[in-house]
Amino acid sequence: MRLKHKKALVTGAAGGIGQAIVSALTAEGALVTGTDRANLRMSFSIEGDLSDKAFCDSLPGEAARLMDGLDIVVNNAGIITRGDISQATDLDFQQTMAINVEAPFRICRAAIPLMAASGGGAIVNTSSCWGVHPGPNHPLYVMSKAAVASLTQCLGMDHAHQNIRVNAVCPNEVNTPMIRTGFETRGLDPDKAIDELNASVPLGRIAEPEDIADVVVFLASDQSRYMCGALLEVNGGKSVQ
Ligand SMILES: NC(=O)c1ccc[n+]([C@@H]2O[C@H](COP(=O)([O-])OP(=O)(O)OC[C@H]3O[C@@H](n4cnc5c(N)ncnc54)[C@H](O)[C@@H]3O)[C@@H](O)[C@H]2O)c1
Repeated sequence: MRLKHKKALVTGAAGGIGQAIVSALTAEGALVTGTDRANLRMSFSIEGDLSDKAFCDSLPGEAARLMDGLDIVVNNAGIITRGDISQATDLDFQQTMAINVEAPFRICRAAIPLMAASGGGAIVNTSSCWGVHPGPNHPLYVMSKAAVASLTQCLGMDHAHQNIRVNAVCPNEVNTPMIRTGFETRGLDPDKAIDELNASVPLGRIAEPEDIADVVVFLASDQSRYMCGALLEVNGGKSVQ
């Protein structure tokens, strides 16, 4: 029970990795408020759209009100926009930046004073291996995840003196709807495509959501008490190709 009495807010809580993060935090004793657009079956939940600026600004305060405190924020929600730059529309740019970059920025900005006032906390952002080592054909996604990585490194330095640790998890490929729908839109069978992808990973398989959630729990817990601004790659030994 590494997170007994801790109160956590998780974005993208209905998604593949988000559900695993909620379960892992709960299993460690934390009280969790999940947020997503819909489909949340949790005791504490807040439904809304992260591209709504006012919603993001109000989320940490609303979660703190529901749970009577806020110690952990996990900025997990994200979208992937595929295709080279000639295919990227203005709307793709706006949506990718709104959800992947502006929402974590707004949520961190609102959460930090609350955490500082109660003696500290931990923020775990979700970047990507592709945010640290950009891959091809996803210009919007890689730049958005690089922005999350930079934001994390900067906040990690700026708020350590308030006992607020800000770190990021950087997954490579994870078996979630995000990756499976990508295969489907390309007309591929997701199970077959994942089998092929598994063969490209030195550990023999792409990550399951729980592999990422366990690292999020570590970064949220005192076991990572001396880590501030770290970008933790979780990749099964596979480099970005
Ligand atoms: N799956 C992967 O291979 C992979 C790899 C590296 C990083 N990541 C990152 O991990 C995080 C979680 O991804 P996942 O694979 O679980 O994806 P997912 O699509 O299964 O879940 C993402 C969740 O975010 C929510 N979300 C998206 N837009 C939203 C909005 N406007 N308002 C509110 N909620 C919104 C979705 O509803 C969904 O529940 C993302 O930030 C993603 O970029 C995923």
